[in-house]
Formats: sequence, structure tokens, C-alpha cells
Amino acid sequence: MFRLARRYAFRTHMIDIFAPTPHINTYLAQALAARALPPALHEATAYSLLAPGKRLRPLLCWHACEAFGVPGVESLPSAAALELIHCFSLVHDDLPALDNDDLRRGLPTLHKHAGEPMAILAGDLMHTLAFALLAERAPAAHDCAKNLIYELSTTTECMIIGQVYDTLGGLDDVAPPERAELIHTNKTGALIRASCRMGVLHAFAAPHMHRSDSHSLAHTMPEALALHHITRYADALGLIFQITDDLLDVTQTAEHVGKRTNKDAAAGKITYPGILGIEGSRAEVRRQEHIALSAVEPLGDTAAVLIEICLQMSRRTK
Ligand code: IPE
Ligand code: IPE
Ligand code: MG
Ligand code: MG
Ligand code: MG
Repeated sequence: MFRLARRYAFRTHMIDIFAPTPHINTYLAQALAARALPPALHEATAYSLLAPGKRLRPLLCWHACEAFGVPGVESLPSAAALELIHCFSLVHDDLPALDNDDLRRGLPTLHKHAGEPMAILAGDLMHTLAFALLAERAPAAHDCAKNLIYELSTTTECMIIGQVYDTLGGLDDVAPPERAELIHTNKTGALIRASCRMGVLHAFAAPHMHRSDSHSLAHTMPEALALHHITRYADALGLIFQITDDLLDVTQTAEHVGKRTNKDAAAGKITYPGILGIEGSRAEVRRQEHIALSAVEPLGDTAAVLIEICLQMSRRTK
């Protein structure tokens, strides 16, 4: 069952999944600088948005676009919109009314830095800026902008539903393993799924001459099939990501992850380690890893970076 992971093991560290990060950071900074904002609101938003996060969602969008033969730079409007929604979710997640955290990305959380009213409002701003960016900068052709806005808005709705389940409950009649899966797929998985799908939507909206003439299977695939494969990959990746985030909360120090750890159990959170234990959670990560790797096998060679992201993410548990 875990043959695929072993077959791809040699790739780790040979592919730099973070190579597009400078492009993403520059685009984010310029998109924010282009708005006419009160200086204090600009400062607070930049503090959160440009802090040293992993940029996982923009990177997935970029690499999913490239897997279908189109330069990742074409997907930057969506890559930036995804990071804006993600940062909005983090700022509000850290507020005293939700997780009440004081450390994020190795820095004081935004409400500690700029006060609670500004943190709420900067979060609101990032939420709305994401959609403004797509409306202004996504390709109009083939209904691309409309499809991207629909994808990101339904996803953000899932994230908020997940945060409600996670923070306020409401799944009492659902058995614990299914409850954990429902919380995880909504609060984290949906945005990871959208990241991959939006990259593919950009690839298929790009003018045909931009698609490279590689012989990779992905480059001749119909859009519906491409979305089917990438969605299966992303759904498994989303679960891997939140399970490993829960594991890091139990196994790592704040210095290592740049945010407080050992908080979930004390806050009564439903987590995979809480339900399956540490080894059971690691086994679930390996099961999902197999699903993700097999989902992108039909894409051929251009899936190499997506495979690498999955392998590196699964290894966060160690
Ligand atoms: C943290 O996400 C929030 C979760 C969904 C678990 P990341 O671990 O991607 O955070 P950054 O962007 O690197 O700070
Ligand atoms: C939050 O999950 C996910 C969102 C922000 C939607 P967590 O509460 O587990 O994230 P961390 O651990 O604070 O980053
Ligand atoms: Mg939370
Ligand atoms: Mg939190
Ligand atoms: Mg967490």
C-alpha cells in the first residue's frame, strides 16, 4: 500500500518547492501597496500578510498551474487571493474570542501587535481584498474570473463553517472520527483544495500558445478530468496538513513551529491525536499520502512538484 511513497522517496530535497516564494511575496506587497489605506490599517495588514509564513496555498496554486503546462506566474492573482483569505483566517483564529493566541509565524499575533479592533478590521480587509484582486486581475476569458470568485467564496464559507464546528461545536450527534474529519476538511481542507483547483482553472484559461508542448499526459487532458485528479490529490493533502498541524501541537515546541504548542487538548479541541493517538494519526497521514500520490499519477512527469509537496508535508510529523 505504501509502495508509491517509497518509489518517490528519492526525490525529496532535489526539487525546490519554495522557488516561487519571492514572486509571491513581491506580488502580495505590490497588491497591498496599490490600495489607498489609512497608514495604520496598511501597517497592520502588511504585518500579517507579509510575515514569514510557508505560503503553502499560493505555492500549491502556482505548481498546480505549472503541472498543466502554464507558467505559474499566470496564477498570481489567485495565489495572492488565497494567501489573503488564509491570513484573514489566521488573524481571526488567534483572537481572544477564538483560540486566544499570542504567537504567530514567530511574531506576536496581530491583536497583540496592533490591538483587537485593528486586528478584526485588518482581517475583514484581507477577506474583501481577496475578491477585489480576482475581480480586477483574473483573466476575463472563459468565465475564469467568475469561476475563481465562486471557488474562493464557497471555500471561504467552508472554512468559516469549520471554524464554527472547531470553536463552538455543533456536531454532537456525529461519531468522533467522522467529527474530526468534518472539522478538518472544512476549516483547513477546503482552502487547500481551492488552491490546487484555482491553479488548474488558470492553466485552462491561459491562451493556448502558453501551454508548453511537453508530452506529459497532463498537457493533453480535458479540464474536467484535470480538476477531478487534482481535487482527489488536494482533499488528501488537506487532511494530511491539518493532521500534521495537530501532531505538531502535541510533539513540537513553539520555537520550532513559530506558534504556541500544547494548546489543542487544553482548549478541548477535537483533533486526530486526541482520537487516534500519535501513532494512529501518523498511520492516517500515510494512508492519505498514498491517496494523494495515486491521484496525481495519471498526470505523468509534471506532477513531480506536487508529489514532492505531499512527501514533505507528510514528513512534518517527525
Ligand atoms: C496554519 O497554517 C493554520 C492551519 C490551517 C493549520 P500554515 O501552517 O500554513 O501557516 P503559515 O501560513 O505557514 O503561517
Ligand atoms: C485554524 O486551525 C485553521 C484556520 C485558521 C482556518 P488551528 O487553530 O489549528 O490553526 P493554528 O494551529 O492556530 O495555526
Ligand atoms: Mg483554531
Ligand atoms: Mg489556532
Ligand atoms: Mg493547530
